Amino acid sequence: MTDLRDKYIQAIAAAADENVLEDLRVQAVGKKGEISLQMRELGRMTPEERQTAGPALNALKDEINSALAARKEALADAALDERLRAEWLDVTLPVRAQRTGSIHPISQVTEEVTAIFADMGFAVAEGPQVDTDWYNFDALNIPGHHPARAEMDTFYMHRAAEDDRPPHVLRTHTSPVQIRHMEQHGAPCRIIAPGRVYRADYDQTHTPMFNQVEGLAIDKDISMANLKWVLEEFFAAFFEVDGIKTRFRASHFPFTEPSAEVDIQCSWVDGQLKIGEGDGWLEVLGSGMVHPHVLRSAGVDPELWQGFAFGMGIDRIAMLKYGIPDLRAFFDSDLRWLRHYGFAALDVPTLHGGLSR
Ligand code: DAH
Repeated sequence: MTDLRDKYIQAIAAAADENVLEDLRVQAVGKKGEISLQMRELGRMTPEERQTAGPALNALKDEINSALAARKEALADAALDERLRAEWLDVTLPVRAQRTGSIHPISQVTEEVTAIFADMGFAVAEGPQVDTDWYNFDALNIPGHHPARAEMDTFYMHRAAEDDRPPHVLRTHTSPVQIRHMEQHGAPCRIIAPGRVYRADYDQTHTPMFNQVEGLAIDKDISMANLKWVLEEFFAAFFEVDGIKTRFRASHFPFTEPSAEVDIQCSWVDGQLKIGEGDGWLEVLGSGMVHPHVLRSAGVDPELWQGFAFGMGIDRIAMLKYGIPDLRAFFDSDLRWLRHYGFAALDVPTLHGGLSR
């Protein structure tokens, strides 16, 4: 019995892993293990022999069981120590530069535009990208037969033949947010509405999805002069120049009367575009005094209230400011392009901290 003891206690102490330990357990104290077999022999012994052999076998069984448990625990401790050693990590190391994400120029420019208009008291409003044709067209004084509907290359949502809900479109401009905002909040108001818009068009300067920012200011005595001041303030701040001239050209939009397209001052020197100097002009937005029909559609009394609105392409002003030649690149998700034109995530544009460090 001493042999048995020495054999197992030594083997258990030397067991290298849990599988070996389990094999030893089966061999020693399993149902058909050596100790169990010896216990079966007890029946054949004389009562005297049994009296010493019985307790001795039980004690050996207990001893082997606790040796197994102790070794098992030691192995688990060692495994944990090994894991802790292997998985050690220096959290003070700098992050790997190639894993840094960046802010897309469209997000950056949207933040810049928002910061500048917020400083002039404009809140941000939003509307759905799938809207009814009433909000996208009718309420904006573009009735069903109006050529502007065809010009805009509208995406219509598919509908079942028996579906009699109003037709839905992917909004072709951010102007429907004017209606939704005035419907909910009435006048006076001062908002911008940046967001995605959609038209079936694709070439170097057109993509089926692009970004606009709408502006709307309604009060008792707002005029085109306020519009001009607000836009010149905006462009000087946005292009980070001291001052900038704008040129208003008479135009036509169904939702404004009078309407103007606005150009900003620029120069081309050695193929380099400079904004805010020289005697060239670049068209950047459409604008005007909100049409009385539009105010009425939104539940605002045109006898009491008036104001200006404008709509500007965010992608376009982003291309001008950051020298991006092809609009389609904005939506290609090319990592090299994103690294080149992207912005650091923690540099939030503010007027006091700088818009585009
Ligand atoms: N919605 C027009 C477009 O997408 C842009 C526009 C022009 C918006 C004049 C306005 C505006 O608010 O007054 O082409």
